[in-house]
Amino acid sequence: MLVITLAGSPQKNSRSSAVLNFAHQWLASRDVNVASYGLQNFSAEELLGANTASPRVQSLINALIHADGLIVATPVYKAAYSGALKTILDLLPERALEHKVVLPIATAGSPGHLLALDYALKPVLSALKAQEVLHGIFADDSQITRNDQGMTFSPSLQLRLDEALNTFLHTLERRRTSSFTPAIAAV
Ligand SMILES: Cc1cc2nc3c(=O)[nH]c(=O)nc-3n(C[C@H](O)[C@H](O)[C@H](O)COP(=O)(O)O)c2cc1C
Repeated sequence: MLVITLAGSPQKNSRSSAVLNFAHQWLASRDVNVASYGLQNFSAEELLGANTASPRVQSLINALIHADGLIVATPVYKAAYSGALKTILDLLPERALEHKVVLPIATAGSPGHLLALDYALKPVLSALKAQEVLHGIFADDSQITRNDQGMTFSPSLQLRLDEALNTFLHTLERRRTSSFTPAIAAV
């Protein structure tokens, strides 16, 4: 099973990327193959010039073709997802998320933008033909604390993360089982 993570924050010390990294470790510890992508994998020229032929963009597109699922994380910027994330999503083929289960993640300064995933990011994931977009994880900054060890999550966020990742994994396993066609043995 292969899952792609896509980090949409331009910040180095990013809260949304910390949540995404947690998801990566969580899945890897359950024997899921995880390949990570983020803004740092691409040059500004590739993204702003919409260079779909670039080897780095092609690498993401190929990884998605072979992936069962995608976890995409973004900060909320101006009540929506980051513009930088959109420059990546715009480079993907029209059906890039066909047959994929997608778990979106957003972090925001204020709980007031709780619905940004629903009204801003999810329509784009649907336009890319995602098979199943899960409820998603939203955290405001008060639930993610920067410290010497990196980032720590509030107990309530930790709980929601575990639940969402369990649901994500079970959905991937269910889809894998239901799409398995056993060879019909001649009797
Ligand atoms: C340019 C910019 C715009 C932002 N706009 C919003 C916003 O509209 N609503 C909100 O709740 N937080 C907003 N924030 C706060 C970020 O969403 C929040 O700090 C988030 O956790 C940052 O994630 P990151 O560390 O992964 O970049 C904004 C931050 C920046 C830098």
